[in-house]
Amino acid sequence: MLEQVEELKSKALQELANISHAKELEAWRVRYLGKKSELTQILRSLATMPLEERKTVGARTNQVKADLEDNLRQKEQVLQEQQLLASTEAEHFDITLPGRPYPAGRLHPITQTLGEICDIFASMGFQVIEGPEVEWDYYNFEALNIPNEHPARDTMSTSWVDFATDSGERPMLLRTHTTSVSARMIEAREPPIRVVAPGKVYRYEASDATHTPMFHQIDGIAVDRGITMADLKGTLYEFARRFFGEDRKVRFRCDYFPFVEPGVEMAIECSVCQGKGCRLCGNSGWIEILGAGMTHPQVLQCGGIDPEGYTSFAFGMGIDRLPMLRYGIDDTRLFYGSDLRFLSQF
Ligand code: DAH
Repeated sequence: MLEQVEELKSKALQELANISHAKELEAWRVRYLGKKSELTQILRSLATMPLEERKTVGARTNQVKADLEDNLRQKEQVLQEQQLLASTEAEHFDITLPGRPYPAGRLHPITQTLGEICDIFASMGFQVIEGPEVEWDYYNFEALNIPNEHPARDTMSTSWVDFATDSGERPMLLRTHTTSVSARMIEAREPPIRVVAPGKVYRYEASDATHTPMFHQIDGIAVDRGITMADLKGTLYEFARRFFGEDRKVRFRCDYFPFVEPGVEMAIECSVCQGKGCRLCGNSGWIEILGAGMTHPQVLQCGGIDPEGYTSFAFGMGIDRLPMLRYGIDDTRLFYGSDLRFLSQF
């Protein structure tokens, strides 16, 4: 009987050595260690053996069984490792291959400029707010001291949303300037007020190198007791220094806007010719960048603020010119052309 057990063992191990697949291994296990295997049968038949034989055969058979189980486990592991190796080889990829670059998006140069300007005014205590682009005639004109028959309306090439009614009323339009948001603030808030309003504005005009029917402005307004022209100049000087650089010259001159009195325009020295005169600045050496002034008492009154107790300064500027000046771009339409070769340079 012992011989049979030894034979079984060597036969089983020999077969095991030749196995290279998990399925074969399972068949092997059933054959040599399963319920119907010879080994199990020998163990079952122990009961019928004489005592001495039972002891020796029993001990040896159990040991062979344990050996075979050990070998089975080892083989299982070897096969698993081999399979893993084979699958990584089959799905082999080259980790040294460079990745495909993701095209990174970026902010439009005008958005970048607006952000920069808002940051400067925010650091001086102005709150950044937005207002509607489809606006009432009232906030775009009427509340800004531009009544229906005022000639200033003609300079603004308005795109009307609602057309004139029989009574001459023209209720809604695409705002022609962000000053409409200042009019709203005067009405909606209590002084002290300090806000800037960036955004899109619309003029019914054909496109050319310096005009587009939609462009960007930022308006600002401060209302408080005792505000003077000195506050206006100080604020705008500081802005110009921060945005254009410490030593860029700045000039104020009188100008007219219906909603301010007195009104001024601010110009900076031309960046192309350093004030000598060139095509960009129309030979004047200066480039006008904004309109400003002391808010007209009529405008404060209209918004419910007592002009006897409060004064106010306001300013408004076009944004699209600024990156043009900074980067020497001579056609504003490039900003709206969606040509990524152009836009991705900024
Ligand atoms: N709204 C004017 C324009 O579009 C610019 C302007 C001038 C705004 C003077 C102001 C201001 O707030 O005080 O031409």
